[in-house]
Amino acid sequence: MDQPDRSKRPWRFSTFVYISSILCLLLAIFLLNFTTTDLYKIQTLRFTFTANRIYSYLQSLPKSKSETLNPESSSSSHCVLWMAPFLSSGGYSSEAWSYILSLHHHLKNPKFRITIEHHGDLESVEFWNGLAKETKELAIEMYKTQCRPNETIVVCHSEPGAWYPPLFETLPCPPTGYDDFLSVIGRTMFETDRVNQEHVERCNQMDHVWVPSEFHVSSFVQSGVDSSKVVKIVQPIDVDFFDPSKYKPLDLLEVGDLVLGSGVGKLGLGFVFLSVFKWEQRKGWDVLLKAYLREFSGNDNVALFLLTNAYHSDSDFGNKIVDFVEELNLDEPEDGYPLVYVIDKHIAQVDLPRLYKAADAFVLPTRGEGWGRPIVEAMAMSLPVIATNWSGPTEYLTEENSYPLVVDEMSEVQEGPFEGHQWAEPSVDKLRVLMRHVMSKPDEAKVKGNRGRDDMVKNFAPEVVAKVVADQIERIFDEKMKNMT
Ligand SMILES: *[C@@H]1O[C@H](CO)[C@@H](O)[C@H](O)[C@H]1NC(C)=O
Ligand SMILES: *[C@@H]1O[C@H](CO)[C@@H](O)[C@H](O)[C@H]1NC(C)=O
Repeated sequence: MDQPDRSKRPWRFSTFVYISSILCLLLAIFLLNFTTTDLYKIQTLRFTFTANRIYSYLQSLPKSKSETLNPESSSSSHCVLWMAPFLSSGGYSSEAWSYILSLHHHLKNPKFRITIEHHGDLESVEFWNGLAKETKELAIEMYKTQCRPNETIVVCHSEPGAWYPPLFETLPCPPTGYDDFLSVIGRTMFETDRVNQEHVERCNQMDHVWVPSEFHVSSFVQSGVDSSKVVKIVQPIDVDFFDPSKYKPLDLLEVGDLVLGSGVGKLGLGFVFLSVFKWEQRKGWDVLLKAYLREFSGNDNVALFLLTNAYHSDSDFGNKIVDFVEELNLDEPEDGYPLVYVIDKHIAQVDLPRLYKAADAFVLPTRGEGWGRPIVEAMAMSLPVIATNWSGPTEYLTEENSYPLVVDEMSEVQEGPFEGHQWAEPSVDKLRVLMRHVMSKPDEAKVKGNRGRDDMVKNFAPEVVAKVVADQIERIFDEKMKNMT
């Protein structure tokens, strides 16, 4: 997920980051050569790399509460340093947050402390601002926790290209190489049928490799990652936050821009399909539009809302969709196209549940997912879900809790660094059938939606997954301590 490719970032911003990173790197190298203790090394690195905009945001926030939280657990010298793109808005970030919050809230007697560090992607001030106040305070508290490297397990939670030595400018993980820490875990995932050689080698440098699903266990091992290192650790979903009983729907017409169709009539919006994705080929937005436009027309009292954001592209999605539809050469139905709206404003994390709440069904004919966060968020919100049954989502989609889109064809990745890999090619016709079905069988859809939430609560609730993660970490500490005595 989220292969950051700096070469395609907007010019000015990437140049700024690039230059400031080089300066930081030089300064860090200079300082590292003249310090003696490892603790100091880390603190120096931290200060150096975070002396940027976000850091000043962190500093300007009130500190009274953060100093006093969590005093009892500081008795343990064992630490976990969790490094992830905490301040970016991608999939790794939301995944990392979900682990950190789960561990913080649900471990009764933690045998280790947790400290966090941003790494692996660019920071977004907008994303940080959209986080809940308590989350920000917790982040600051964890960020300030000090740990000795020789008593710390590092979790590098990012794409392997960001691991030490990183292939692009970012604080490396582990920060000073593989030898200074008690143990190093790589947490990653991938969306195609294989892992390339460079990443396989990076995985094998880790002591353990955590992946989210059985799909990944087998694709990583088949690609050459040492099978004794690979462990499945599923993702938590915050089922208390994504709880449909707590929210009123967001006013979709206020946030969406009409792209196709003639607007809402007297009857209101009718049946609302929602899709949430970054604007890239992998997400199958082309398949979704083809299926939707061929299946429905202006008379169907149906609307499709696409919450999307730019991914190495400009954000003029309305025109992109209109161009795409022109190229399709469809005959516009007599009663016009069915409604299509784009939401390209940033929807703050705290407003996301209200967005799902405003929809009747969620749909994502993706070609491949690490996990598919929007899918599980929609399921936690009791929405009936149509999603491709391939890659990460095979871990949780069933006939009973959703409408899995069966895959009988694969296609080759055509662009980017993973050209030549294979991923799913979801069928437009099968998707049409499912979309029509979910709309015309509301009772069945409701049952599946509720089952979806039940399964999320049972299998992926924060307390469930926190225990899985803590058990793994404690096992590693135990092993290491045994070897020392
Ligand atoms: C880690 O190093 C410190 C000194 O730098 C030492 O006091 C401590 O005992 C070490 N911890 C372990 C587990 O070896
Ligand atoms: C989804 O995919 C998994 C893994 O290939 C398979 O075991 C399962 O039967 C599929 N589910 C459906 C409903 O096709």
